[in-house]
Amino acid sequence: MEVHPVGNKTACVIGGTGFVAALLVKLLLQKGYSVNTTVRDPDNQTKTSHLLELQKLGSLKIFKADLTDEHSFDAPIAGCDYVFHVATPVNFASQDPENDMIKPAIKGVLNVLNACSNAKTVKRVILTSSAAAVSVNEQTGTGLIMDETHWTDAEFLASAKPPTWGYLLSKTLAEKAAWKFAEETPNLDLITIIPTLMAGHSLTEEIPSSIRIATALITGNEFLINGLKGMQMLSGSISITHVEDVCLAHIYLAEKESATGRYICCASNTSLPELAKFLNNRYPEYKVPTEFGDFPSKSKLILSSEKLTKEGFVFKYGIEDVYDHTIDYFKEKGVLKN
Ligand SMILES: NC(=O)c1ccc[n+]([C@@H]2O[C@H](COP(=O)([O-])OP(=O)(O)OC[C@H]3O[C@@H](n4cnc5c(N)ncnc54)[C@H](OP(=O)(O)O)[C@@H]3O)[C@@H](O)[C@H]2O)c1
Repeated sequence: MEVHPVGNKTACVIGGTGFVAALLVKLLLQKGYSVNTTVRDPDNQTKTSHLLELQKLGSLKIFKADLTDEHSFDAPIAGCDYVFHVATPVNFASQDPENDMIKPAIKGVLNVLNACSNAKTVKRVILTSSAAAVSVNEQTGTGLIMDETHWTDAEFLASAKPPTWGYLLSKTLAEKAAWKFAEETPNLDLITIIPTLMAGHSLTEEIPSSIRIATALITGNEFLINGLKGMQMLSGSISITHVEDVCLAHIYLAEKESATGRYICCASNTSLPELAKFLNNRYPEYKVPTEFGDFPSKSKLILSSEKLTKEGFVFKYGIEDVYDHTIDYFKEKGVLKN
């Protein structure tokens, strides 16, 4: 990868044990940034081994911090130029989404933004939001185009409580809380990135759940295939992006001075039946099922990345690359046979 020296810039990545944050840390180090990252438990070797490995690439300091601990972000953020708030509580099996995801996600955003504001050195904060904060609504039909002006219908989620509602609502309310804080706080420059379901390689020891969901049709995991069906019905599409593109977009938007507001980051919009046909054609060896009865063959909507690409960002990877790379990764991990 080409390295553009960035001088003595320091970036803080909140949640270095995560799938996305781990790659973001690597790309920042490769670009010449000094990086501070936060983890909940620095002694958990399974979760931090990739970070110890990344320390060979440059200056990477690991701090202990929890989203719910008000002052634990002061030290890692002090002196930083950019802060990437990537971490969020993810617990799809939770019996208590309010306390397990919604409250800590909002509290975490406020704690991180407060530390950024107090630090006085932070030029920009980049918050990783989600398509979950944009596309969930009760509209019907096909062909809807969702852009950064759209927000998920939080009242619908809170009252109907469809499967996974707690995560979807946590992402929506956390992003809204971030914008409110930024409006009320002079000199706090906030960008939010709205990625879709991601796949590709992961540096983490454990295989991320999003990669398992994205590959459910290939591995034949019925529970996760039902999860994909639920995603199309609730979020309106199966939209997929390479994790590396999402991380590159984070860095691009941090450095691009004219960037402002929200940015959808989505490489490919499809539906479950269309995805199945694509996978069946490209990888016939996995015998991906293509019959789904009366399940809707078309997605309800597409997520538009026009704002991001008009700003000059170029996606490196299409859906073919996403799945080629993910299958290679699964072969390395022994999930699929060589
Ligand atoms: N992956 C996707 O397909 C996808 C799609 C759209 C948006 N996103 C967004 O992208 C971001 C990263 O997702 P990901 O897939 O990388 O998630 P992930 O692998 O599940 O990582 C989540 C991170 O959040 C940390 N975390 C959770 N609760 C915390 C707390 N109370 N205090 C401190 N850290 C806490 C976790 O730390 P521990 O390791 O200690 O648990 C972990 O580092 C999230 O904001 C997510 O909503 C992801």
